[in-house]
Amino acid sequence: MEYDFLVLGSGIAGLTFAINAAPHGSVAILTKKQRSESNTNYAQGGIAAAIGADDSWELHLQDTLNAGAGLCDREAVEVLVKNGPRMVRWLMELGAQFDKNPDGSIALGREGGHSRNRILHAADHTGYEIERTLLIAARKTPHITVLEHYQALELILENGVCAGVRVLDTLTGDLFEIRAKATLLATGGCGQVYLHTSNPPIATGDGIAMAWRAGATIGNMEFIQFHPTTLYHTDAPSFLISEAVRGEGGILRRRDGYRFMPDYDPRAELAPRDIVARAIDAELKKTGDPCVFLDITHLDPEFIKRRFPTIYHTCLQYGVDITREPIPVVPAAHYTCGGVWTDLDGRTTLPRLYACGEVAYTGVHGANRLASNSLLEALVFAERAALHATTRLDEPPPKPKPSCITVPLPPIESTATVKDHSYNWDAARLQIRQMMQKKGGIVRTVARLQEARCELETLAAQIEAAYRNLPPTVESCEARNLAACALLITHSALARKESRGLHYVLDYPETRAEFAACPTLITPS
Ligand code: FAD
Ligand code: SIN
Repeated sequence: MEYDFLVLGSGIAGLTFAINAAPHGSVAILTKKQRSESNTNYAQGGIAAAIGADDSWELHLQDTLNAGAGLCDREAVEVLVKNGPRMVRWLMELGAQFDKNPDGSIALGREGGHSRNRILHAADHTGYEIERTLLIAARKTPHITVLEHYQALELILENGVCAGVRVLDTLTGDLFEIRAKATLLATGGCGQVYLHTSNPPIATGDGIAMAWRAGATIGNMEFIQFHPTTLYHTDAPSFLISEAVRGEGGILRRRDGYRFMPDYDPRAELAPRDIVARAIDAELKKTGDPCVFLDITHLDPEFIKRRFPTIYHTCLQYGVDITREPIPVVPAAHYTCGGVWTDLDGRTTLPRLYACGEVAYTGVHGANRLASNSLLEALVFAERAALHATTRLDEPPPKPKPSCITVPLPPIESTATVKDHSYNWDAARLQIRQMMQKKGGIVRTVARLQEARCELETLAAQIEAAYRNLPPTVESCEARNLAACALLITHSALARKESRGLHYVLDYPETRAEFAACPTLITPS
Protein backbone atom coordinates (compact mmCIF):
# COMPACT_ATOMS: atom_id res chain seq x y z
CA MET A 1 0.00 0.00 0.00
CA GLU A 2 1.24 3.47 -0.80
CA TYR A 3 -0.17 6.89 0.10
CA ASP A 4 1.07 10.47 0.04
CA PHE A 5 0.44 10.95 3.75
CA LEU A 6 0.31 8.24 6.39
CA VAL A 7 -1.25 9.18 9.72
CA LEU A 8 -0.82 6.90 12.72
CA GLY A 9 -3.71 7.55 15.10
CA SER A 10 -7.29 8.76 14.82
CA GLY A 11 -7.52 11.18 17.77
CA ILE A 12 -7.65 14.97 17.50
CA ALA A 13 -4.07 15.28 16.20
CA GLY A 14 -4.30 12.60 13.48
CA LEU A 15 -7.72 13.70 12.23
CA THR A 16 -6.78 17.39 12.14
CA PHE A 17 -3.63 16.63 10.16
CA ALA A 18 -5.54 14.35 7.77
CA ILE A 19 -8.30 16.87 7.04
CA ASN A 20 -5.73 19.58 6.32
CA ALA A 21 -3.44 17.37 4.21
CA ALA A 22 -6.13 15.65 2.12
CA PRO A 23 -6.58 18.47 -0.42
CA HIS A 24 -2.92 17.84 -1.40
CA GLY A 25 -2.85 14.06 -1.79
CA SER A 26 -4.03 10.68 -0.61
CA VAL A 27 -4.17 10.10 3.17
CA ALA A 28 -4.36 6.85 5.12
CA ILE A 29 -5.26 7.01 8.81
CA LEU A 30 -4.18 3.90 10.66
CA THR A 31 -5.74 3.17 14.01
CA LYS A 32 -5.20 0.17 16.22
CA LYS A 33 -8.81 -0.27 17.37
CA GLN A 34 -12.05 1.20 16.09
CA ARG A 35 -11.63 4.76 14.86
CA SER A 36 -13.10 6.66 17.84
CA GLU A 37 -11.05 4.81 20.47
CA SER A 38 -8.54 7.41 21.63
CA ASN A 39 -7.73 9.57 24.64
CA THR A 40 -9.44 12.38 22.75
CA ASN A 41 -12.76 10.58 22.98
CA TYR A 42 -12.61 10.56 26.81
CA ALA A 43 -11.56 14.18 27.35
CA GLN A 44 -13.92 15.79 29.81
CA GLY A 45 -13.11 19.32 30.94
CA GLY A 46 -12.64 21.06 27.62
CA ILE A 47 -10.33 22.97 25.34
CA ALA A 48 -8.64 26.20 26.40
CA ALA A 49 -8.61 29.29 24.16
CA ALA A 50 -8.45 32.98 24.95
CA ILE A 51 -11.79 33.98 23.45
CA GLY A 52 -13.41 35.70 26.46
CA ALA A 53 -13.95 39.48 26.49
CA ASP A 54 -11.68 39.81 29.56
CA ASP A 55 -9.01 37.49 28.11
CA SER A 56 -6.04 37.77 25.77
CA TRP A 57 -3.38 35.52 24.27
CA GLU A 58 -0.88 37.25 26.57
CA LEU A 59 -2.77 36.09 29.68
CA HIS A 60 -3.10 32.56 28.31
CA LEU A 61 0.63 32.62 27.54
CA GLN A 62 1.48 33.75 31.08
CA ASP A 63 -0.70 31.07 32.71
CA THR A 64 0.86 28.37 30.50
CA LEU A 65 4.38 29.56 31.31
CA ASN A 66 3.59 29.70 35.04
CA ALA A 67 2.24 26.14 35.06
CA GLY A 68 5.24 24.95 33.04
CA ALA A 69 7.58 25.92 35.92
CA GLY A 70 10.19 27.68 33.80
CA LEU A 71 10.65 24.93 31.25
CA CYS A 72 8.21 25.89 28.49
CA ASP A 73 9.52 26.96 25.11
CA ARG A 74 8.07 30.47 24.92
CA GLU A 75 7.95 30.48 21.13
CA ALA A 76 5.95 27.24 21.07
CA VAL A 77 3.53 28.61 23.68
CA GLU A 78 3.08 31.77 21.60
CA VAL A 79 2.18 29.65 18.59
CA LEU A 80 -0.34 27.78 20.75
CA VAL A 81 -2.11 30.69 22.35
CA LYS A 82 -2.13 32.99 19.31
CA ASN A 83 -3.60 30.29 17.04
CA GLY A 84 -5.95 28.85 19.70
CA PRO A 85 -9.00 31.07 19.09
CA ARG A 86 -8.81 30.57 15.30
CA MET A 87 -8.52 26.80 15.63
CA VAL A 88 -11.44 26.40 18.07
CA ARG A 89 -13.51 28.49 15.62
CA TRP A 90 -12.43 26.04 12.89
CA LEU A 91 -13.75 23.20 15.05
CA MET A 92 -17.05 25.04 15.51
CA GLU A 93 -17.26 25.66 11.75
CA LEU A 94 -16.87 21.91 11.26
CA GLY A 95 -19.84 21.44 13.59
CA ALA A 96 -18.53 21.10 17.15
CA GLN A 97 -21.20 22.20 19.60
CA PHE A 98 -19.82 23.77 22.76
CA ASP A 99 -22.06 24.82 25.66
CA LYS A 100 -23.52 28.28 25.40
CA ASN A 101 -24.76 30.92 27.85
CA PRO A 102 -28.44 31.95 27.75
CA ASP A 103 -27.41 34.97 25.58
CA GLY A 104 -25.89 32.65 22.95
CA SER A 105 -22.25 33.35 23.77
CA ILE A 106 -19.87 30.43 24.42
CA ALA A 107 -19.89 29.34 28.09
CA LEU A 108 -16.34 29.38 29.39
CA GLY A 109 -15.30 27.23 32.35
CA ARG A 110 -12.38 27.61 34.75
CA GLU A 111 -9.71 25.02 35.59
CA GLY A 112 -6.59 24.98 37.75
CA GLY A 113 -3.85 27.47 36.88
CA HIS A 114 -6.04 29.59 34.55
CA SER A 115 -6.44 33.24 35.55
CA ARG A 116 -9.55 33.62 33.38
CA ASN A 117 -12.54 31.50 32.42
CA ARG A 118 -11.35 30.16 29.05
CA ILE A 119 -12.37 26.51 28.79
CA LEU A 120 -14.81 25.73 25.97
CA HIS A 121 -16.68 22.57 26.83
CA ALA A 122 -19.53 20.29 25.83
CA ALA A 123 -20.86 19.41 29.30
CA ASP A 124 -18.28 16.90 30.62
CA HIS A 125 -17.86 15.04 27.33
CA THR A 126 -15.93 17.60 25.29
CA GLY A 127 -13.59 15.02 23.79
CA TYR A 128 -16.47 12.94 22.47
CA GLU A 129 -17.92 16.03 20.79
CA ILE A 130 -14.58 16.91 19.17
CA GLU A 131 -13.88 13.34 18.04
CA ARG A 132 -17.41 13.04 16.62
CA THR A 133 -17.02 16.31 14.71
CA LEU A 134 -13.62 15.43 13.27
CA LEU A 135 -14.62 11.90 12.27
CA ILE A 136 -17.61 13.26 10.37
CA ALA A 137 -15.41 15.89 8.69
CA ALA A 138 -12.82 13.24 7.76
CA ARG A 139 -15.53 11.04 6.29
CA LYS A 140 -16.73 13.92 4.12
CA THR A 141 -13.21 14.81 2.95
CA PRO A 142 -12.16 13.15 -0.32
CA HIS A 143 -8.89 11.15 -0.37
CA ILE A 144 -8.99 10.03 3.31
CA THR A 145 -9.02 6.28 4.01
CA VAL A 146 -9.39 5.09 7.60
CA LEU A 147 -7.82 1.69 8.29
CA GLU A 148 -9.13 0.29 11.59
CA HIS A 149 -7.54 -2.51 13.64
CA TYR A 150 -4.16 -1.89 12.05
CA GLN A 151 -1.37 -1.59 14.57
CA ALA A 152 1.83 0.18 13.53
CA LEU A 153 4.82 -1.85 14.71
CA GLU A 154 7.94 -0.16 13.42
CA LEU A 155 8.95 2.80 11.28
CA ILE A 156 10.58 1.94 7.97
CA LEU A 157 13.83 3.86 7.49
CA GLU A 158 15.52 3.98 4.09
CA ASN A 159 18.87 5.75 4.05
CA GLY A 160 17.83 7.44 7.28
CA VAL A 161 14.55 8.73 5.77
CA CYS A 162 11.16 7.61 7.11
CA ALA A 163 9.36 5.78 4.30
CA GLY A 164 6.33 4.40 6.18
CA VAL A 165 5.55 1.71 8.74
CA ARG A 166 5.36 -2.02 9.27
CA VAL A 167 1.86 -2.95 10.28
CA LEU A 168 0.01 -5.77 12.02
CA ASP A 169 -3.59 -6.45 11.02
CA THR A 170 -4.87 -7.18 14.51
CA LEU A 171 -7.88 -9.14 13.25
CA THR A 172 -6.02 -11.53 10.93
CA GLY A 173 -2.45 -11.44 12.26
CA ASP A 174 -1.15 -10.46 8.78
CA LEU A 175 1.99 -8.34 8.56
CA PHE A 176 2.67 -5.84 5.79
CA GLU A 177 4.15 -2.45 4.96
CA ILE A 178 2.47 0.86 4.22
CA ARG A 179 4.63 3.44 2.48
CA ALA A 180 4.17 7.17 2.26
CA LYS A 181 5.97 10.38 1.34
CA ALA A 182 5.32 11.74 4.85
CA THR A 183 4.40 9.88 8.04
CA LEU A 184 2.74 11.46 11.08
CA LEU A 185 2.92 9.98 14.56
CA ALA A 186 -0.35 10.90 16.30
CA THR A 187 -0.43 7.86 18.57
CA GLY A 188 -0.99 9.67 21.88
CA GLY A 189 0.72 9.23 25.23
CA CYS A 190 1.86 6.41 27.48
CA GLY A 191 -0.42 6.60 30.55
CA GLN A 192 -0.62 2.80 30.60
CA VAL A 193 2.98 2.70 31.87
CA TYR A 194 1.38 3.26 35.31
CA LEU A 195 -0.91 0.90 37.16
CA HIS A 196 -3.35 3.70 37.98
CA THR A 197 -4.15 5.88 35.00
CA SER A 198 -7.04 7.88 33.60
CA ASN A 199 -6.02 6.75 30.10
CA PRO A 200 -7.77 4.04 28.07
CA PRO A 201 -5.83 0.83 27.24
CA ILE A 202 -4.66 2.17 23.84
CA ALA A 203 -2.29 4.64 25.54
CA THR A 204 0.81 2.43 25.44
CA GLY A 205 3.30 4.96 24.06
CA ASP A 206 3.71 3.11 20.73
CA GLY A 207 4.72 6.20 18.77
CA ILE A 208 7.29 7.32 21.33
CA ALA A 209 8.84 3.85 21.45
CA MET A 210 8.88 3.44 17.65
CA ALA A 211 10.48 6.85 17.16
CA TRP A 212 13.14 6.14 19.80
CA ARG A 213 13.98 2.79 18.22
CA ALA A 214 14.27 4.54 14.84
CA GLY A 215 16.72 7.07 16.30
CA ALA A 216 14.57 10.18 16.76
CA THR A 217 15.32 12.51 19.66
CA ILE A 218 12.93 12.17 22.60
CA GLY A 219 12.40 14.96 25.15
CA ASN A 220 11.27 15.56 28.76
CA MET A 221 9.90 12.09 29.47
CA GLU A 222 10.28 12.56 33.24
CA PHE A 223 7.32 14.94 33.22
CA ILE A 224 4.34 12.63 33.66
CA GLN A 225 1.26 14.48 34.79
CA PHE A 226 -0.83 12.87 37.52
CA HIS A 227 -4.42 14.07 37.52
CA PRO A 228 -5.40 14.80 41.12
CA THR A 229 -8.88 13.34 40.98
CA THR A 230 -9.90 9.96 39.60
CA LEU A 231 -12.68 7.97 41.19
CA TYR A 232 -11.48 5.71 44.00
CA HIS A 233 -13.50 2.53 43.71
CA THR A 234 -12.25 -1.03 43.57
CA ASP A 235 -14.33 -1.79 40.47
CA ALA A 236 -13.77 1.46 38.53
CA PRO A 237 -10.71 1.58 36.26
CA SER A 238 -9.52 5.07 37.27
CA PHE A 239 -12.49 7.02 35.96
CA LEU A 240 -11.60 10.72 35.72
CA ILE A 241 -13.39 13.32 37.82
CA SER A 242 -12.80 16.44 35.73
CA GLU A 243 -10.88 19.41 37.02
CA ALA A 244 -13.93 21.39 35.89
CA VAL A 245 -15.65 20.02 39.01
CA ARG A 246 -13.15 22.01 41.08
CA GLY A 247 -13.58 24.85 38.61
CA GLU A 248 -17.27 24.97 39.53
CA GLY A 249 -16.47 25.11 43.25
CA GLY A 250 -15.61 21.52 44.25
CA ILE A 251 -13.75 21.31 47.57
CA LEU A 252 -11.15 18.70 48.51
CA ARG A 253 -11.52 17.29 52.01
CA ARG A 254 -9.94 14.62 54.15
CA ARG A 255 -12.09 11.83 55.52
CA ASP A 256 -12.55 13.94 58.71
CA GLY A 257 -14.00 16.75 56.55
CA TYR A 258 -10.95 19.04 56.81
CA ARG A 259 -10.35 21.22 53.71
CA PHE A 260 -6.60 20.84 53.22
CA MET A 261 -5.73 22.63 49.95
CA PRO A 262 -5.45 26.18 51.44
CA ASP A 263 -2.60 24.78 53.60
CA TYR A 264 -0.63 24.06 50.41
CA ASP A 265 -1.38 26.93 48.01
CA PRO A 266 -3.34 30.20 48.12
CA ARG A 267 -5.17 29.09 44.95
CA ALA A 268 -6.41 26.09 46.96
CA GLU A 269 -8.31 23.56 44.77
CA LEU A 270 -7.49 25.62 41.66
CA ALA A 271 -3.72 25.45 42.04
CA PRO A 272 -1.95 23.76 39.09
CA ARG A 273 -2.24 19.98 38.98
CA ASP A 274 1.23 19.09 40.19
CA ILE A 275 0.60 21.01 43.42
CA VAL A 276 -2.85 19.50 44.00
CA ALA A 277 -1.71 15.93 43.21
CA ARG A 278 1.29 16.23 45.56
CA ALA A 279 -0.90 17.72 48.30
CA ILE A 280 -3.29 14.76 48.04
CA ASP A 281 -0.35 12.34 48.05
CA ALA A 282 1.01 14.02 51.20
CA GLU A 283 -2.38 13.89 52.94
CA LEU A 284 -2.81 10.21 52.08
CA LYS A 285 0.64 9.43 53.48
CA LYS A 286 -0.05 11.51 56.61
CA THR A 287 -3.44 9.98 57.39
CA GLY A 288 -2.96 6.49 55.96
CA ASP A 289 -6.34 6.85 54.23
CA PRO A 290 -6.78 5.26 50.81
CA CYS A 291 -8.44 8.37 49.26
CA VAL A 292 -9.55 11.94 49.83
CA PHE A 293 -12.97 13.39 48.95
CA LEU A 294 -14.14 15.92 46.38
CA ASP A 295 -17.25 17.65 47.65
CA ILE A 296 -19.79 19.43 45.44
CA THR A 297 -22.84 18.70 47.55
CA HIS A 298 -23.22 22.45 48.18
CA LEU A 299 -24.08 22.99 44.48
CA ASP A 300 -27.61 22.78 43.05
CA PRO A 301 -28.28 19.11 42.16
CA GLU A 302 -29.94 20.05 38.88
CA PHE A 303 -26.90 22.12 37.88
CA ILE A 304 -24.59 19.18 38.73
CA LYS A 305 -26.59 16.75 36.59
CA ARG A 306 -26.68 19.18 33.67
CA ARG A 307 -23.03 20.30 33.86
CA PHE A 308 -21.50 16.88 34.66
CA PRO A 309 -23.85 14.23 33.23
CA THR A 310 -21.12 11.66 32.51
CA ILE A 311 -19.55 12.01 35.93
CA TYR A 312 -22.93 12.00 37.69
CA HIS A 313 -24.15 8.84 35.94
CA THR A 314 -20.83 6.96 36.14
CA CYS A 315 -20.42 7.66 39.86
CA LEU A 316 -24.05 6.68 40.48
CA GLN A 317 -23.34 3.38 38.72
CA TYR A 318 -20.63 2.80 41.36
CA GLY A 319 -22.98 3.73 44.20
CA VAL A 320 -21.92 7.38 44.70
CA ASP A 321 -24.61 10.05 44.31
CA ILE A 322 -22.38 13.11 43.81
CA THR A 323 -25.27 15.51 44.52
CA ARG A 324 -25.53 14.11 48.05
CA GLU A 325 -22.14 12.72 49.05
CA PRO A 326 -18.48 13.62 48.48
CA ILE A 327 -16.67 11.69 45.74
CA PRO A 328 -13.79 9.44 46.89
CA VAL A 329 -10.79 10.36 44.72
CA VAL A 330 -7.10 9.53 44.20
CA PRO A 331 -4.49 10.85 41.74
CA ALA A 332 -3.65 8.78 38.64
CA ALA A 333 -1.23 9.08 35.70
CA HIS A 334 -2.94 11.24 33.11
CA TYR A 335 -0.73 12.96 30.56
CA THR A 336 2.71 12.54 28.97
CA CYS A 337 4.22 16.04 28.80
CA GLY A 338 7.33 14.85 26.98
CA GLY A 339 7.59 12.71 23.87
CA VAL A 340 9.07 12.82 20.40
CA TRP A 341 10.95 16.09 19.99
CA THR A 342 9.51 18.35 17.28
CA ASP A 343 10.01 21.85 15.98
CA LEU A 344 7.15 24.31 15.59
CA ASP A 345 6.01 22.57 12.38
CA GLY A 346 5.68 19.14 13.97
CA ARG A 347 8.92 17.90 12.37
CA THR A 348 10.96 15.31 14.24
CA THR A 349 14.71 14.86 13.85
CA LEU A 350 14.07 12.14 11.23
CA PRO A 351 13.41 13.25 7.65
CA ARG A 352 9.75 12.91 6.56
CA LEU A 353 8.59 11.93 10.06
CA TYR A 354 6.22 14.30 11.88
CA ALA A 355 4.68 14.03 15.36
CA CYS A 356 1.72 15.89 16.86
CA GLY A 357 -0.51 15.72 19.91
CA GLU A 358 0.35 13.86 23.08
CA VAL A 359 3.07 11.76 21.39
CA ALA A 360 5.05 14.92 20.70
CA TYR A 361 7.26 17.13 22.81
CA THR A 362 6.82 20.60 21.30
CA GLY A 363 8.00 22.57 24.33
CA VAL A 364 4.49 23.89 25.05
CA HIS A 365 3.95 22.19 28.40
CA GLY A 366 7.37 22.47 30.00
CA ALA A 367 7.45 20.81 33.41
CA ASN A 368 3.68 20.76 33.86
CA ARG A 369 0.77 21.04 31.43
CA LEU A 370 -1.88 23.65 32.06
CA ALA A 371 -5.33 22.04 32.14
CA SER A 372 -7.13 21.80 28.80
CA ASN A 373 -4.08 22.89 26.80
CA SER A 374 -3.48 19.45 25.27
CA LEU A 375 -6.46 19.26 22.95
CA LEU A 376 -5.51 22.75 21.80
CA GLU A 377 -1.86 21.81 21.29
CA ALA A 378 -2.85 18.83 19.14
CA LEU A 379 -5.18 20.98 17.05
CA VAL A 380 -2.78 23.88 16.49
CA PHE A 381 0.37 21.87 15.76
CA ALA A 382 -1.38 19.26 13.58
CA GLU A 383 -2.56 22.02 11.24
CA ARG A 384 0.99 23.42 11.08
CA ALA A 385 2.47 19.98 10.44
CA ALA A 386 0.02 19.38 7.60
CA LEU A 387 0.95 22.73 6.07
CA HIS A 388 4.63 21.84 6.26
CA ALA A 389 4.24 18.28 4.97
CA THR A 390 2.22 19.47 1.99
CA THR A 391 4.51 22.33 0.97
CA ARG A 392 8.05 21.93 2.36
CA LEU A 393 8.51 18.21 2.85
CA ASP A 394 12.02 18.09 1.45
CA GLU A 395 13.60 20.59 3.81
CA PRO A 396 16.38 19.02 5.90
CA PRO A 397 15.16 17.91 9.34
CA PRO A 398 15.57 20.26 12.30
CA LYS A 399 17.90 19.78 15.26
CA PRO A 400 17.05 20.64 18.87
CA LYS A 401 19.09 23.38 20.52
CA PRO A 402 21.83 21.83 22.66
CA SER A 403 20.65 21.15 26.22
CA CYS A 404 22.63 20.70 29.43
CA ILE A 405 20.63 17.50 30.18
CA THR A 406 21.31 15.03 27.40
CA VAL A 407 21.11 11.25 27.79
CA PRO A 408 22.62 9.02 25.08
CA LEU A 409 20.48 5.90 25.15
CA PRO A 410 20.61 3.25 22.42
CA PRO A 411 17.57 1.02 21.84
CA ILE A 412 17.37 -2.17 23.88
CA GLU A 413 19.38 -5.13 22.65
CA SER A 414 18.06 -8.61 23.16
CA THR A 415 20.45 -10.31 25.57
CA ALA A 416 18.67 -13.61 26.15
CA THR A 417 20.25 -16.58 24.41
CA VAL A 418 17.46 -19.10 24.99
CA LYS A 419 14.75 -19.01 22.34
CA ASP A 420 11.30 -18.55 23.89
CA HIS A 421 8.37 -20.49 22.52
CA SER A 422 5.90 -18.53 24.59
CA TYR A 423 6.00 -15.52 26.83
CA ASN A 424 3.57 -14.16 29.41
CA TRP A 425 3.05 -10.66 27.96
CA ASP A 426 0.28 -9.78 30.42
CA ALA A 427 2.53 -10.57 33.37
CA ALA A 428 5.32 -8.44 31.89
CA ARG A 429 2.92 -5.55 31.30
CA LEU A 430 1.66 -5.77 34.89
CA GLN A 431 5.19 -5.93 36.25
CA ILE A 432 6.13 -2.71 34.41
CA ARG A 433 3.01 -0.90 35.53
CA GLN A 434 3.33 -1.92 39.18
CA MET A 435 7.01 -1.02 39.24
CA MET A 436 6.45 2.43 37.71
CA GLN A 437 3.55 3.13 40.06
CA LYS A 438 5.75 2.31 43.05
CA LYS A 439 9.09 3.72 41.91
CA GLY A 440 8.41 6.39 39.28
CA GLY A 441 5.28 8.10 40.58
CA ILE A 442 4.32 11.47 42.07
CA VAL A 443 7.13 11.60 44.66
CA ARG A 444 10.40 10.06 43.52
CA THR A 445 13.72 9.15 45.11
CA VAL A 446 17.00 8.45 43.34
CA ALA A 447 17.25 5.01 44.98
CA ARG A 448 13.79 3.93 43.81
CA LEU A 449 14.42 5.27 40.31
CA GLN A 450 17.73 3.41 40.11
CA GLU A 451 16.01 0.19 41.20
CA ALA A 452 13.33 0.72 38.55
CA ARG A 453 15.93 1.38 35.84
CA CYS A 454 17.86 -1.74 36.76
CA GLU A 455 14.76 -4.00 36.84
CA LEU A 456 13.49 -2.46 33.62
CA GLU A 457 16.74 -3.00 31.76
CA THR A 458 16.61 -6.72 32.56
CA LEU A 459 12.92 -7.01 31.76
CA ALA A 460 13.18 -4.99 28.53
CA ALA A 461 16.00 -7.22 27.25
CA GLN A 462 13.90 -10.34 27.99
CA ILE A 463 10.90 -8.79 26.26
CA GLU A 464 13.06 -7.91 23.25
CA ALA A 465 14.32 -11.48 23.01
CA ALA A 466 10.83 -12.96 23.20
CA TYR A 467 9.48 -10.36 20.77
CA ARG A 468 12.08 -11.25 18.15
CA ASN A 469 11.41 -14.97 18.48
CA LEU A 470 7.63 -14.96 18.34
CA PRO A 471 5.12 -13.66 15.80
CA PRO A 472 4.09 -10.13 16.81
CA THR A 473 0.75 -9.66 18.55
CA VAL A 474 -1.02 -6.66 20.04
CA GLU A 475 0.09 -7.81 23.50
CA SER A 476 3.74 -8.32 22.60
CA CYS A 477 4.03 -5.00 20.76
CA GLU A 478 2.40 -3.07 23.57
CA ALA A 479 4.49 -4.71 26.31
CA ARG A 480 7.64 -3.90 24.34
CA ASN A 481 6.56 -0.29 23.88
CA LEU A 482 5.57 0.11 27.54
CA ALA A 483 8.98 -1.20 28.59
CA ALA A 484 10.65 1.31 26.26
CA CYS A 485 8.59 4.23 27.61
CA ALA A 486 9.20 3.18 31.23
CA LEU A 487 12.93 3.16 30.50
CA LEU A 488 12.78 6.58 28.85
CA ILE A 489 10.93 7.95 31.89
CA THR A 490 13.36 6.52 34.45
CA HIS A 491 16.49 7.52 32.52
CA SER A 492 15.14 11.04 32.08
CA ALA A 493 14.07 11.26 35.73
CA LEU A 494 17.51 10.20 36.91
CA ALA A 495 19.19 12.70 34.59
CA ARG A 496 17.26 15.69 35.97
CA LYS A 497 18.93 16.35 39.31
CA GLU A 498 16.40 18.85 40.61
CA SER A 499 12.69 19.07 41.39
CA ARG A 500 10.63 21.06 38.92
CA GLY A 501 6.91 20.99 38.13
CA LEU A 502 5.73 17.39 37.89
CA HIS A 503 9.18 15.93 38.57
CA TYR A 504 9.58 15.88 42.34
CA VAL A 505 12.59 14.06 43.81
CA LEU A 506 13.11 13.92 47.57
CA ASP A 507 16.91 13.85 47.10
CA TYR A 508 16.83 17.13 45.14
CA PRO A 509 13.84 19.09 46.51
CA GLU A 510 15.02 22.43 45.05
CA THR A 511 14.49 23.83 41.54
CA ARG A 512 17.84 24.79 40.04
CA ALA A 513 17.90 27.97 37.97
CA GLU A 514 20.65 26.66 35.67
CA PHE A 515 18.33 23.87 34.42
CA ALA A 516 15.50 26.23 33.41
CA ALA A 517 16.43 26.27 29.74
CA CYS A 518 17.35 22.58 29.67
CA PRO A 519 14.87 20.01 28.41
CA THR A 520 15.98 16.42 28.97
CA LEU A 521 16.92 15.11 25.55
CA ILE A 522 17.39 11.41 24.88
CA THR A 523 19.45 11.03 21.78
CA PRO A 524 20.54 8.00 19.78
CA SER A 525 24.14 7.05 20.61
P1 FAD B 1 -5.19 10.18 21.13
O1 FAD B 1 -6.47 10.90 21.17
O2 FAD B 1 -4.82 9.39 22.33
O3 FAD B 1 -5.21 9.23 19.87
C1 FAD B 1 -4.20 8.29 19.67
C2 FAD B 1 -4.60 7.43 18.50
O4 FAD B 1 -3.51 6.63 18.08
C3 FAD B 1 -5.72 6.46 18.80
O5 FAD B 1 -6.56 6.43 17.69
C4 FAD B 1 -5.00 5.12 18.95
O6 FAD B 1 -5.79 4.00 18.68
C5 FAD B 1 -3.93 5.30 17.91
N1 FAD B 1 -2.75 4.44 18.10
C6 FAD B 1 -1.93 4.35 19.16
N2 FAD B 1 -0.93 3.49 18.91
C7 FAD B 1 -1.11 3.02 17.66
C8 FAD B 1 -0.43 2.11 16.84
N3 FAD B 1 0.66 1.46 17.25
N4 FAD B 1 -0.91 1.87 15.60
C9 FAD B 1 -2.01 2.49 15.15
N5 FAD B 1 -2.72 3.37 15.90
C10 FAD B 1 -2.27 3.63 17.13
N6 FAD B 1 -7.02 17.32 27.42
C11 FAD B 1 -7.58 18.54 27.32
O7 FAD B 1 -7.00 19.45 26.71
N7 FAD B 1 -8.79 18.77 27.89
C12 FAD B 1 -9.49 17.81 28.58
O8 FAD B 1 -10.58 18.05 29.04
C13 FAD B 1 -8.89 16.54 28.70
N8 FAD B 1 -9.52 15.54 29.39
C14 FAD B 1 -8.97 14.30 29.40
C15 FAD B 1 -9.67 13.27 30.04
C16 FAD B 1 -9.18 11.98 30.01
C17 FAD B 1 -9.93 10.87 30.69
C18 FAD B 1 -7.96 11.71 29.35
C19 FAD B 1 -7.41 10.32 29.30
C20 FAD B 1 -7.25 12.73 28.74
C21 FAD B 1 -7.75 14.03 28.76
N9 FAD B 1 -7.07 15.07 28.14
C22 FAD B 1 -7.65 16.31 28.07
C23 FAD B 1 -5.85 14.82 27.37
C24 FAD B 1 -6.24 14.74 25.88
O9 FAD B 1 -7.43 14.02 25.77
C25 FAD B 1 -5.15 14.04 25.08
O10 FAD B 1 -3.90 14.58 25.35
C26 FAD B 1 -5.43 14.21 23.58
O11 FAD B 1 -6.74 13.79 23.30
C27 FAD B 1 -4.42 13.42 22.78
O12 FAD B 1 -4.81 13.43 21.45
P2 FAD B 1 -3.93 12.67 20.36
O13 FAD B 1 -4.63 12.87 19.07
O14 FAD B 1 -2.55 13.10 20.49
O15 FAD B 1 -3.97 11.14 20.82
C1 SIN C 1 -10.13 17.34 33.12
O1 SIN C 1 -11.27 17.42 32.68
O2 SIN C 1 -9.83 17.48 34.31
C2 SIN C 1 -9.03 17.01 32.19
C3 SIN C 1 -8.53 18.26 31.64
C4 SIN C 1 -7.16 18.06 31.05
O3 SIN C 1 -6.57 16.99 31.17
O4 SIN C 1 -6.67 19.03 30.49
